[in-house]
Amino acid sequence: MNIIVTGGAGFIGSNFVFHMLKAHPDYRIICLDKLTYAGNLSTLEPVMDNPNFRFVKADICDKEAVDKLFAEEKPDIVVNFAAESHVDRSIENPQVFLETNILGTSVLMDASRKYGVKRYHQVSTDEVYGDLPLDRPDMFFTESTPIHTSSPYSSSKAGADLLVLAYYRTYGLPVTISRCSNNYGPYHFPEKLIPLMIIRALHDESLPVYGDGLNVRDWLYVEDHCKAIDLIIHEGKIGEVYNVGGHNEMANIDIVKLILKELGKSEDLITYVTDRKGHDRRYAIDPTKIHNELGWLPETKFADGIVKTIKWYLDNEAWWQPIVSGEYQNYYEKMYGDK
Ligand SMILES: NC(=O)c1ccc[n+]([C@@H]2O[C@H](COP(=O)([O-])OP(=O)(O)OC[C@H]3O[C@@H](n4cnc5c(N)ncnc54)[C@H](O)[C@@H]3O)[C@@H](O)[C@H]2O)c1
Repeated sequence: MNIIVTGGAGFIGSNFVFHMLKAHPDYRIICLDKLTYAGNLSTLEPVMDNPNFRFVKADICDKEAVDKLFAEEKPDIVVNFAAESHVDRSIENPQVFLETNILGTSVLMDASRKYGVKRYHQVSTDEVYGDLPLDRPDMFFTESTPIHTSSPYSSSKAGADLLVLAYYRTYGLPVTISRCSNNYGPYHFPEKLIPLMIIRALHDESLPVYGDGLNVRDWLYVEDHCKAIDLIIHEGKIGEVYNVGGHNEMANIDIVKLILKELGKSEDLITYVTDRKGHDRRYAIDPTKIHNELGWLPETKFADGIVKTIKWYLDNEAWWQPIVSGEYQNYYEKMYGDK
């Protein structure tokens, strides 16, 4: 089985590459990644010499490069993680989100049609559903919750989802979509909440918390997300959307306090800053469908996962220090520039 994984040098994509090589030692995994600021090739160093793994630096919007790779590899499955993924950046510069997240998706699907891919899987997000009120803990996102986006990021992801479903209906492309809640775990880029707070707390720097800190997110350990996608691409029903989440709702401020407690640091480091524009209040996934149809359940409880994650950042300063200093962006040139 040949699987093209786009965005495999990013947070979830790299965890997925590791998971697939381990869970399916007979599969060939081809990672296509542009190595934007969010892609870090050193993350994939442990598998670079694996004969079942290939890395290709390319942009999913580049039709020629994508066509060439599909012609060479004749993939059975395509899993698209490649995206601009940071909400704050989408507020500053929406255009690149539309290019990568929507146009890039169409380029991948056109190639998937041309080369007869058996499954195109789109990695989407619960943010396409907008937000839920804080005072309605009984409300959750199901797969039939209307799309109602808040940010340029979530709008671009929703646009891509609609396009994926249109390719299914119009061309019969065998697609599936997963919409997952917030992930955390190893290799999470230090601009995102959990790694940002861990690293700043380690340096005794102030911890910026948006607004009142009460915004609620539904956190899932990244490995559980990877296992869900593995199940969907093998057993999920074509044309279907699957929500993925673990009923782990936490207010941002409680996560920050928990990190400080684990690291033995004072809550005085917390600084409340002006809220993000259009900041969603609460996300909460109802994962009943993937549980009932595919038997998926999250395995890592938040209390264990967050301790594991903090320990990972403590043990892997060599991974995040070059990111904080910006040095990681020279890594590709240094290691592979002349190859
Ligand atoms: N992080 C989360 O909590 C979360 C939750 C639900 C869904 N998602 C979705 O999962 C996917 C992966 O998220 P992540 O957090 O790992 O993102 P990330 O920002 O860590 O990684 C994105 C990767 O895509 C690559 N990329 C960006 N533009 C590209 C392009 N034009 N061509 C090729 N590669 C490109 C980057 O180099 C990077 O390696 C995204 O589609 C995101 O929308 C993320």
